[in-house]
Amino acid sequence: MVMKIAVLPGDGIGPEIVAQAARVLEALRSDGLKIELEYAHIGGAGYDAAGDPFPAATEKLALAADAVLLGAVGGYQYDTLARPLRPEQGLLRIRKGLGLFANLRPAMVYPELVNASSLKPELVSGLDIMILRELTGDIYFGQPRGIRTLDNGERQGFDTMHYSESEIRRVAHVGFQIALKRAGLNGKGKMCSVDKANVLDTSMFWREIVTEVSREYPQVELSHMYVDNAAMQLVRAPKQFDVILTGNIFGDILSDEASMLTGSIGMLPSASLDANNKGLYEPCHGSAPDIAGKNIANPLATILSVAMMMRYTFLREDIAQRIETAVRKTLQQGLRTGDIAEAGMQKIGTAAMGDAVVAAL
Ligand code: IPM
Ligand code: MG
Repeated sequence: MVMKIAVLPGDGIGPEIVAQAARVLEALRSDGLKIELEYAHIGGAGYDAAGDPFPAATEKLALAADAVLLGAVGGYQYDTLARPLRPEQGLLRIRKGLGLFANLRPAMVYPELVNASSLKPELVSGLDIMILRELTGDIYFGQPRGIRTLDNGERQGFDTMHYSESEIRRVAHVGFQIALKRAGLNGKGKMCSVDKANVLDTSMFWREIVTEVSREYPQVELSHMYVDNAAMQLVRAPKQFDVILTGNIFGDILSDEASMLTGSIGMLPSASLDANNKGLYEPCHGSAPDIAGKNIANPLATILSVAMMMRYTFLREDIAQRIETAVRKTLQQGLRTGDIAEAGMQKIGTAAMGDAVVAAL
């Protein structure tokens, strides 16, 4: 089977980190995997090239591919553009356009990096949680939205939060299945659904539907938690969690928080999947324009995103583990980019980190 991968480097550090991930893919190709890489623009790069953060040519390529590898979008020079032209719109439109409703954001602490976390080592060592964020609904996409002038002449900004039953159901199923898989044959899966059901009707409905779906998964223990409490519990006792299922906006916030448990957001990959395991793979971090072009960004989140691609779209667990093991080996060798280096450790650059992973493959 040919693996058709659309590569969208995007902005800021995007091109640098994607270049290293592409080298990993090329190394796998020279080992005999049939991998086809095709490049296109997204975000600010799309705006610069075609006046659109999600150009038609990029959409076409992404729709035709089996999987998409994305760097990051955004940059200061685009901050004053009208909203539809902003880089973030490219990201939101590709997620929506490809129907990528299930966003998997694993937060794992590597033993080698346990001291890089801002939390005490004993709180985070061995941490392995999976945040499943719904990605194509919620207040991110709800209509109506805008800025309007009220009858009394005052201006008001407004957005609409809503979740339909089918949207909740399908992502809940993905969550329960992930929990089952993580528990293995003999374990009991655990999933915590996070909402704000004490205040929001959308959340009350979310909780009702997730509870209903849970009846099909008696092997998974479902719990519910309010999002404010979840934010607190994540830094108080993060190891109580296994799978966290939540909506788009809560997931956005909680996944950034969870990334810090692991030491650096530069280590966190993500997968955004449709109903058929087609996926978009990107690091959880942003385009970091302040360090772009300096060869100091950490490419590991993007490389680990390639591992997720092998696991979830191409069903090649063997290759996923091979990549993850190679990353572990480079960490074991003491190689660190600046974001994960402890005092006194030698720091290496983006390309050198890529070299090390390719060598360890
Ligand atoms: C993320 C980012 C995006 C989001 C932005 C860049 C639109 O923060 O992937 O978490 O809010 O989803
Ligand atoms: Mg975010």
